Amino acid sequence: MSACRKTSSLFAPFLRAYHSKPLSYSARLSPASPRSRTVSRSGYPFPRASLLSSSGFDSVRQFSSIPEGYKVLITGGCGQLGLAIADNIRSQLGKNSVLLTDIKEPSESIISSGPFEYCDVLDQAKLKKIVSDYDIDCIIHLSIILSALGEKNPHLALNVNINGFQNVLDISKERNIRLMCPSTMGVFGPTSPKTLTPDLTIMRPNTIYGITKVHMELMGEYYAQKYNLDFRSLRYPGIISADSLPGGGTTDYAVDIFHSAISQNSFSCFLKPNARLAMMYLDDCIDATVQLLFAPSEKLSQKVYNINAMSFTPSELAAEIKSQFSPDFKMSYNPDYRQEIADTWPFSLDSRKASEDWGFNPKITSVKELTTKMFNELSNHH
Ligand SMILES: NC(=O)c1ccc[n+]([C@@H]2O[C@H](COP(=O)([O-])OP(=O)(O)OC[C@H]3O[C@@H](n4cnc5c(N)ncnc54)[C@H](O)[C@@H]3O)[C@@H](O)[C@H]2O)c1
Repeated sequence: MSACRKTSSLFAPFLRAYHSKPLSYSARLSPASPRSRTVSRSGYPFPRASLLSSSGFDSVRQFSSIPEGYKVLITGGCGQLGLAIADNIRSQLGKNSVLLTDIKEPSESIISSGPFEYCDVLDQAKLKKIVSDYDIDCIIHLSIILSALGEKNPHLALNVNINGFQNVLDISKERNIRLMCPSTMGVFGPTSPKTLTPDLTIMRPNTIYGITKVHMELMGEYYAQKYNLDFRSLRYPGIISADSLPGGGTTDYAVDIFHSAISQNSFSCFLKPNARLAMMYLDDCIDATVQLLFAPSEKLSQKVYNINAMSFTPSELAAEIKSQFSPDFKMSYNPDYRQEIADTWPFSLDSRKASEDWGFNPKITSVKELTTKMFNELSNHH
């Protein structure tokens, strides 16, 4: 822990004045952009006392000794995964233990869930100031341009995924704080083994997203080796969630299909019927992320881990929807450029090392269980 940290009491008067002003931000990447609005901040400075009264504190502490008042900053917090990761950590460490940030307009549920700051990861000075002002102990870096969006806008993907990550990396090194940045099965490419792809194997991705993620993994490992940075990463398969929508990935069809089944009893799929890909339900992804985040360092034999839960094709998912939801459900196939991306990705990942080292153990491991879970969750929404 660096000497410059844990100074929030010194900042308290400044923070009170600073935060009493309204926060302006613009949602540059949102579909309706450009737009701007004003919201007021809430829930800071992080009150340490409240963390001790949090009911689930011990369940995190069992993984390692989490210091009192531990504070996590999440970049890209308005995306598919941000709020779910924040909710999980907050349920164990307290509402103010996580600061969500993004350049997108936060939803009402994000605003009411805890502290939020507008922050572009390309703005290193602002990011540095927030990390310092909030006395952050750990960054979870989620800001990203995903695979499909990246192929449409490679320069944006290079900028956000490489330069944004470099800013976060340098700040983490400077302040000697833990950095977790999720990776993806997209780091693998057409020459990687397709089935039970090992942690360490041929990695020659041919998408901008995959290339930037290999870069991220290697730079994180380099900083860990050279500067002793506590860098952690895990390679997600496609993530399927009921509460939040995906942000431009190749596996988005496996979320969209459920919404379309409910509203139209049909779906037009942008992948081929036999496009088999590794997938995971959101809760298992979040549990794994938080488990690795708080795993004791001495348990970790590598910096980057595969995680795996299930594998299915669009036609297998459609068959399950017919069986569980509607026998009349109609699936049509109109493959587009995303099929070319899917062609290069694994069917399944070998995640044995994650299980051995830090106890990775997903609960939903079949397309049947996933379909049941999604309809249960979505029946509350529709
Ligand atoms: N969702 C999946 O299926 C999946 C699969 C594999 C890996 N991952 C990884 O998980 C992490 C989170 O992904 P996600 O699904 O939440 O992505 P997402 O696209 O839903 O969210 C990314 C967020 O980053 C924000 N962002 C973009 N540019 C930014 C900038 N310049 N500054 C600050 N924020 C910016 C966006 O506004 C968005 O809210 C990423 O590292 C991604 O590679 C996700």
